[in-house]
Amino acid sequence: FNILLAASEAVPFAKSGGLADVAGALPKALRALGHDVRVVMPRYYIVDTEKYGLKKLNGSLGVPMGSMGEAWAAVYEGVLPGSDVPVYFIDHEGFFGRKGLYDEGGQAYGDNDNRFIFFSKAVFQLAKMLRFKPDVIHANDWHTASIPLLLNTTYAFDPDFENTGTLLTIHNLQHQGKFYKGAMDVLGVGWEHYNADELEEFGGVNLLKAGIVHADAVNAVSRKYANEIRTAEFGWGLEGLIDANAHKLYGILNGVDYDEWSPAVDPLIPQTFDVDNLAGKAICKQELQREFGLPEREDVPLIGLVGRLAEQKGIGLLAGAIWNLMELDIQIVLLGTGETWAEFFFSDVAAKYPDKFGCYIGYRNDLAHRIEAGSDLFLMPSLFEPCGLNQIYSLRYGTLPIVRATGGLDDTIRNYGNDHQSGTGFKFDFATPDALSNTVKWATEIWYGDPDAIDQMRLNAMQQRFDWEVAAEAYGDLYCRIIGGRRSSRH
Ligand code: ADP
Ligand code: GLC
Repeated sequence: FNILLAASEAVPFAKSGGLADVAGALPKALRALGHDVRVVMPRYYIVDTEKYGLKKLNGSLGVPMGSMGEAWAAVYEGVLPGSDVPVYFIDHEGFFGRKGLYDEGGQAYGDNDNRFIFFSKAVFQLAKMLRFKPDVIHANDWHTASIPLLLNTTYAFDPDFENTGTLLTIHNLQHQGKFYKGAMDVLGVGWEHYNADELEEFGGVNLLKAGIVHADAVNAVSRKYANEIRTAEFGWGLEGLIDANAHKLYGILNGVDYDEWSPAVDPLIPQTFDVDNLAGKAICKQELQREFGLPEREDVPLIGLVGRLAEQKGIGLLAGAIWNLMELDIQIVLLGTGETWAEFFFSDVAAKYPDKFGCYIGYRNDLAHRIEAGSDLFLMPSLFEPCGLNQIYSLRYGTLPIVRATGGLDDTIRNYGNDHQSGTGFKFDFATPDALSNTVKWATEIWYGDPDAIDQMRLNAMQQRFDWEVAAEAYGDLYCRIIGGRRSSRH
């Protein structure tokens, strides 16, 4: 099929979270299955045109922006490294020539509606410019969620998109693209679409809502999350709408790029290792302890944590549990950036417990790899987690995840408690500091009391595979279904 995947970020060009990992890896796996897949994303300042050899295409794209008039974009072209998948960068200095992707210094840009509506429209203009007739445009999250709406309105009778269908993948329902209704002007789809079943919400505009309604199919990134978002606890107000659209809702789990995340070949860790030779892992642990100035003890369980310091990730639970945890004979290393209170709080804990708690506030891919490799356990106490990638990386590095049983965390980790022979980690249900600290305590008791069980679990964990190939096949089937559905509804 001809697939045009539109995303606001993609590895290695620009990344704020897991969406970029997906947008940079899924297309390669689809390509390997024979699909003509192309990626389109904005050209932020952070996109290094020289390093990746990006070339400016001839010509430019005109994008109608309501009363702002027409906005013009240049286009850069490159490939996803290690593949021949073309990537197109929509270049507009006013909208994307900035330091951040969505925000700066914790403050969201005030014109994110214009920026991403512009980008979504440019996706159509790009297809025209390339004479690329997509069978499916694959949109991701709120940034590109207006694409299904635009296809069904502005481009409904455009022969270039006669046979085009849409898929919307939801990576995170918390962020919906809610704006002042002035965004209607720039969208330009007509006020008849400003109603509670499409764009309107509490007197404003909700782009993700329109995307869910207008897409031919919607995918959430794990089976459990796809079910959770039909309920009030996880629906962020859209649960009713999502439940009503459950007939076109899927839950294809993300894969992992094992070229990047495998301890046997990882160039970013001090010593490689694998399931049949774990000696290197002990060296990684020692180096990690040294890097964080922790006592270099082999016997103590070292718990890693990498991620955005956002409420979603359960940092409030961790903060509530931390004093209990500091009573245990454990070590914790944390890498993350995000909410200011959390950056201060965890730095403080590190100052108070220099022998037990190490903390690095910042974004560092190399350190993320060293934490995965050197830790014994990995903590992800998320309040909600659509898929989650770090726990899957952890499995591969033999670092047993301690997770809250939600979304993709529940789908990818098998609890020790259920089956001692096949467990791959430790899970808890309740989103409370006590549940968290009790579970860490439980894992610690097993660590000290039953090393054979830990060895067995480590073996189980390292043998798990979440290959992109499998996910890409599921996406391929879904594209096929979308195309079939479009054709039959037209005839
Ligand atoms: P989310 O997309 O919700 O942030 P995921 O687990 O899907 O969560 O993906 C997070 C990705 O971002 C992982 O690849 C993780 O290693 C990376 N990451 C997050 N925070 C940091 C950080 N401070 N330094 C390095 N990598 C980070
Ligand atoms: C989101 C989710 C995360 C998921 C990622 C990629 O950022 O928070 O759970 O893994 O998208 O789909």
